[in-house]
Amino acid sequence: MKRAKITIVGAGNVGATTAHWCAAAELGDIVLLDIPQTEDMPKGKALDLMQSSPVFGFDANIVGTTSYEATAGSDVVVITAGIPRKPGMSRDDLLATNAKIMGAVCSEVKSSSPNAIIIVVSNPLDAMVQRALQVTGFPPNRVLGQAGVLDTARYRTFLAMELGVSVEDVSALLMGGHGDTMVPMPSCTSVGGIPVTQLIAPERLEEIVDRTRKGGAEIVGLLKTGSAYYAPAAATAQMVEAIVRDKKRLIPCAAYCDKEYGVGGFYVGVPVILGTGGVEKIVELKLTADEQKAFQASVDAVKGLVDTMATLV
Ligand code: NAI
Ligand code: 2OP
Repeated sequence: MKRAKITIVGAGNVGATTAHWCAAAELGDIVLLDIPQTEDMPKGKALDLMQSSPVFGFDANIVGTTSYEATAGSDVVVITAGIPRKPGMSRDDLLATNAKIMGAVCSEVKSSSPNAIIIVVSNPLDAMVQRALQVTGFPPNRVLGQAGVLDTARYRTFLAMELGVSVEDVSALLMGGHGDTMVPMPSCTSVGGIPVTQLIAPERLEEIVDRTRKGGAEIVGLLKTGSAYYAPAAATAQMVEAIVRDKKRLIPCAAYCDKEYGVGGFYVGVPVILGTGGVEKIVELKLTADEQKAFQASVDAVKGLVDTMATLV
């Protein structure tokens, strides 16, 4: 069987770490691309990663490049190109710079890999994935964003820490945009099958949700020179795996919602079924009045960002 071809645009922290997870899981052959100004950096990272393969015992060809020629005909393209946050910056501060980068990257991807499924990671996520859709004109099921898997992983980690249980037993869902308006879904959160609301008092649960909302900023504050990358890369690799192995994972992703949830043509985090066809289905849940209100606030924040972006590009 032919191996999948996975291109990762942006060979920085998230890009290179995603390449590592994808290679170690033998998800396919990998092309790691960065801008010409980085000269041989992507080649160096690719060679270094290849040299970890005999130790870990995986077979994957990993190539570093600054030219889209080597990416031609990719099955999946992950876009991490852009600038990350520094302390004191919000994801939205990245809007103008990253919207231009996203436009340039996506016009290259459109011509070099016209059948690819694109996973956008660059921030501000929900606006960047909209930009990717606008520039490529690909069908919306082939353009999606990574945020929900990461946010939910952070939430699951904090819940497991709180209860002193294995993360494996914590199942949770967060919806909405990747930002301060993300929407927790206590009705979809359980630990070993027990509703979380039976295990943690509402005020304490709200504190954990708040830490989750600020989870990215917490890491930025600690790292000081950039933003998180191990967990974001792990989350992205899980999405790549769902696509190349047609796993039909039911996970939260930034997906294009039109009639769904009454969003009206924007990207927002919702549960989807992810497989070889990309977003194969958006799963519509019945939201409570509170959840609907919080979700709408999140959608409005995304719309605001997209409107601002239109004035900048
Ligand atoms: P980084 O600075 O380590 O890497 C970014 C790379 O993109 C650099 O190597 C840079 O040279 C490259 N780049 C810039 N313009 C490019 C272009 N036109 N074509 C190709 N490559 C280009 O940053 P890091 O930490 O990897 O973060 C990347 C992006 O991902 C940031 O916007 C960050 O905010 C976002 N992010 C999103 C997350 C999410 O959950 N959606 C989580 C973590 C980061
Ligand atoms: C995060 O949540 C910066 O969006 C990135 O860590």
